[in-house]
Amino acid sequence: MTDTLNISIEPIDTSRLSQVDFNHIDFGKVYSDHMFIADYYHNAWQNLRIEPYDMLSFTPGSAILHYGQSVFEGMKAYKNAEGEVLVFRPEKNFMRLNLSAERMCIPQLPEDIFMQGLTQLLHLDKNWVPDLPNTSLYIRPYIFALDEFIGIRPSDNYKFIIFTCPVGPYYSRPLKVKIERQFSRAVHGGTGYAKAAGNYAGSLYPAKLAQQKGYDQLIWTDGATHQYVEEAGTMNVMFIKGNKLITAETGDTVLKGITRDSVLTIAKEWGYEVEERRVSVDELVKSLEQGEIDEAFGTGTAATIASIEVIGDGHKDYQLPITNAQSFSKRVFAELDQIKTGKKEDKYGWIYKV
Ligand code: COI
Repeated sequence: MTDTLNISIEPIDTSRLSQVDFNHIDFGKVYSDHMFIADYYHNAWQNLRIEPYDMLSFTPGSAILHYGQSVFEGMKAYKNAEGEVLVFRPEKNFMRLNLSAERMCIPQLPEDIFMQGLTQLLHLDKNWVPDLPNTSLYIRPYIFALDEFIGIRPSDNYKFIIFTCPVGPYYSRPLKVKIERQFSRAVHGGTGYAKAAGNYAGSLYPAKLAQQKGYDQLIWTDGATHQYVEEAGTMNVMFIKGNKLITAETGDTVLKGITRDSVLTIAKEWGYEVEERRVSVDELVKSLEQGEIDEAFGTGTAATIASIEVIGDGHKDYQLPITNAQSFSKRVFAELDQIKTGKKEDKYGWIYKV
């Protein structure tokens, strides 16, 4: 039993909730009333508080603005039929936040600050958790460096913030993805496994070039040889070939996705042969040419289960078969959705009830 932390609460004067049209919410554009904040200074996380979501104030010399010493997470909350708020696997996000923090020289965050901050914030903003189909409350915890110093060294001061956004789907239609063979997202020894802000900034330019050619996203290949498929940046990538589910193994260049882990667990239980291994582009392209890939999809908190309809390599595009309600990706999406919304028994212990 952990002690209850002292978290001060400054409630908003007038909620913005009535201005929100929950039937039309674009991903990441609507922000709930409050945010949780903890400051790190004098070698300790302190000053825990919940405040109205608002501007932050820090100086132009702050380290985060120059060197990107920052890590983040993404998780989601749902409502069950009784109107209770359920969060999907938050302890996994907590662990990954600290793994990312270690790589970026950011001090570890105690679990009670993460969990109690999250719980109190969701208590206060529970009416922001949508309950319409394909909606959820996206939760963004993050930490960033705040020393006012223009030298390169780890900061002594940080902020940890959690804010939330009611969201609809991140991708609203099946994706066209391009296998990226020129630019690299991650290399061995790098920061690819961490949810470090800079990983995402570095992906923007190659993604922009692909978007100019009509693709939605990239599938990154390994930084050393560009011969092996890794992940898509916003999601891990999986392929269904008969009774096999094939996905790139994780290591220091691929994010250990929590949705990825959940899908693999369900696939094993459903009797699929799960192969976590190196997947070469040659193997993938050969299988696509021979029509052996039944489904390709991404998995992620924001992306959920995102169907891929086209995979491009070089100058050639490969069309994937059209999925239906019996397809693995559709069934696993429905299964996860039922678990997340409390319609199905939580036999894996994935749900945290607020
Ligand atoms: C998430 O899936 O939560 C992420 O952090 C990915 C981000 C690109 C939206």
